[in-house]
Amino acid sequence: MFKHLREEIDAIIARDPAARSWLEVIVCYPGLHALLMHRMAHFAWRKGWTLLGRMLSQLGRTLTGIEIHPGAVIGRRFFIDHGMGVVIGETAEIGDDVHMYHGVTLGGTSLARGKRHPTIRDRVIIGAGAKILGAIEIGEGARIGSNAVVVSNVPPGVTALGIPAKVAAPRDPAAAMAPTGFLPFLAYGTPCDELLDPMARRITALTEQIETLRQRIETLEAGDNGPHQNTLPRERTPT
Ligand SMILES: CC(C)(COP(=O)(O)OP(=O)(O)OC[C@H]1O[C@@H](n2cnc3c(N)ncnc32)[C@H](O)[C@@H]1OP(=O)(O)O)[C@@H](O)C(=O)NCCC(=O)NCCS
Repeated sequence: MFKHLREEIDAIIARDPAARSWLEVIVCYPGLHALLMHRMAHFAWRKGWTLLGRMLSQLGRTLTGIEIHPGAVIGRRFFIDHGMGVVIGETAEIGDDVHMYHGVTLGGTSLARGKRHPTIRDRVIIGAGAKILGAIEIGEGARIGSNAVVVSNVPPGVTALGIPAKVAAPRDPAAAMAPTGFLPFLAYGTPCDELLDPMARRITALTEQIETLRQRIETLEAGDNGPHQNTLPRERTPT
């Protein structure tokens, strides 16, 4: 249940410039508390202890203001920033490295049992107050603008804005590719000028490679040379 805790804390530190230390994240981040409560609630739910799952979910909601149904399936390094007012429904599915701000709803539009909540693919960023409704799919690396109401599928890598949400024209073609792994995480979903600059992107890529090499050297020096083969990130090609 808690085996991914370390990478979840690391993800928060990497994605929130306000986060200064592990201790601060553990003590002060309701998104992390809600996620841990959800891991326990989901465990109970999958065991068939549905009332216990609902009770744990309710406790998490009371403590954090974040309501996650115990049946929701959530991937790794999920970060709810600020958190208050988030609602995630029973049949919602969330991939890896998804980032969400406060006031987001992953809601249903039907009373029918079965899949009725959204599927959010990897690396999606969902702005504050966005509502994503129904059994729709948000493609990998898409960005959902704050306060958007999304009622239909969103393709990978695009930005969806407004009510009802529509795909926005990219302000830079490179930015459109960014969230699908081309660029690092975009805080607030907003590509800053530094990230749009080809030289800055090359430097960012090289810095990531150096960090990966440093970690591999540390692992080798510690005598564990098992699972870290071929993990170098691809160098990004400036456009
Ligand atoms: C959607 C978003 C990712 C777009 O960022 P971007 O690619 O930098 O887009 P820009 O700022 O260049 O704006 C592009 C256009 O979309 C409009 N726009 C931006 N965000 C919008 C939103 N949430 N709703 C409606 N229109 C929006 C802009 O006004 C602009 O319109 P124009 O072309 O007519 O001038 C970003 O605006 C956003 O909403 N991020 C979430 C931020 C958030 O929730 N922060 C909470 C922190 S606590």
